[in-house]
Amino acid sequence: METVRAAIIGTGGIARSHVAALRGEPERTELVAAMDVDPERVRAFCEAHGIAGAYTDAGAMLAAERPGLVMICTPPSTHTELIVQALEAGAWVLCEKPLCASLAELDRIEEAERRTGRYCASVVQWRFGSAARHLKGLIAAGVLGRPLVGLCNTVWYRDHAYYAVPWRGKWATELGGATMGQGIHAIDLFLWTLGDWAEVRAMIGTLDRAIEVEDVSMAIVRFAGGAMGSIVNSVLSPRQESYVRFDFADATVELRHLYRYSNADWTLTLPDSADNPGLLAAWEAIPADIPSSHGAQLGALLDDMARGERPSTSGPGVRGTIEFITSLYKSALTGRPVERGSIAAGDPFYRAMNGRSA
Ligand SMILES: NC(=O)c1ccc[n+]([C@@H]2O[C@H](COP(=O)([O-])OP(=O)(O)OC[C@H]3O[C@@H](n4cnc5c(N)ncnc54)[C@H](O)[C@@H]3O)[C@@H](O)[C@H]2O)c1
Repeated sequence: METVRAAIIGTGGIARSHVAALRGEPERTELVAAMDVDPERVRAFCEAHGIAGAYTDAGAMLAAERPGLVMICTPPSTHTELIVQALEAGAWVLCEKPLCASLAELDRIEEAERRTGRYCASVVQWRFGSAARHLKGLIAAGVLGRPLVGLCNTVWYRDHAYYAVPWRGKWATELGGATMGQGIHAIDLFLWTLGDWAEVRAMIGTLDRAIEVEDVSMAIVRFAGGAMGSIVNSVLSPRQESYVRFDFADATVELRHLYRYSNADWTLTLPDSADNPGLLAAWEAIPADIPSSHGAQLGALLDDMARGERPSTSGPGVRGTIEFITSLYKSALTGRPVERGSIAAGDPFYRAMNGRSA
């Protein structure tokens, strides 16, 4: 495979993680350009990271540099336009979370993928740590027994100053609050691990921060396979934690961390009465530690690019999470349960997370 010419659009906070990921793949990638609407920011970013091409216009950058991969690190409401523009310029895309503003926008991205033959992957870096992949394998092999109960808590703390950045805290630009902005990482891991969800019931509230979107949400979910789960998202919790727990018929698996996990952050507990050396041995056969990171996900995306295969984190591979968050908001805002597959074109929640600001 030829070296992939990569470009970054949006040179704020998270762009640094994309630089680190690219630097971890020196044989397969070359970071040739960066673009930001803020000229001073992109200049300083390019200088700090030794990037030759600094641009303030995405079209000009795409035309001049012809990148094979574009990493989109801009505020959420700008993602879809930039994704489509990059695909149409012949690039593959790795776009920050949340991928897009609605199911309608996801359909638009998929239409552009079909038209261009290129793919857009959503950043979901918690799927790519070695422990999460090991757990998926054990579930598929039936080693842990049937999944029955799950807990998914993102209890983080974002102070008032955090919301001074103009795009945060608003439906039109952040697309949601504690659920869409913070909880999305654990929610995505939780749903990806447990498989198809079937129904959600939820409440949201804005209890303390001076923002339009929610600073807390709580939801309960039923999975197609019968398991039930609860999901709590908060930006009001001084002792911060990301906690995901899966109770299978034969073992409990727990993950406690904050933003990035290693193998050591995962634990397995058997029932007191159990003597199950086979299960313990299967758990302990976990591969060498690969922490969850942008770098781990980039490696998998470059493999997909080399094979010309659709990434598992594009289109149908992330629809379950986007549809779930849309459905959580719909349930909270209508006071009714929402079933998987029920939000179709014509439903106001198909076009906007809050059913209003399309
Ligand atoms: N995966 C993660 O762990 C993670 C963590 C933090 C943020 N994020 C996501 O990354 C994205 C960016 O967040 P951030 O904290 O870096 O934001 P930020 O405000 O620090 O940076 C965003 C940058 O995008 C630029 N920008 C705005 N509109 C643009 C446009 N149309 N074209 C080009 N540049 C534009 C801004 O000038 C700014 O420099 C968000 O979607 C956020 O949710 C992901």
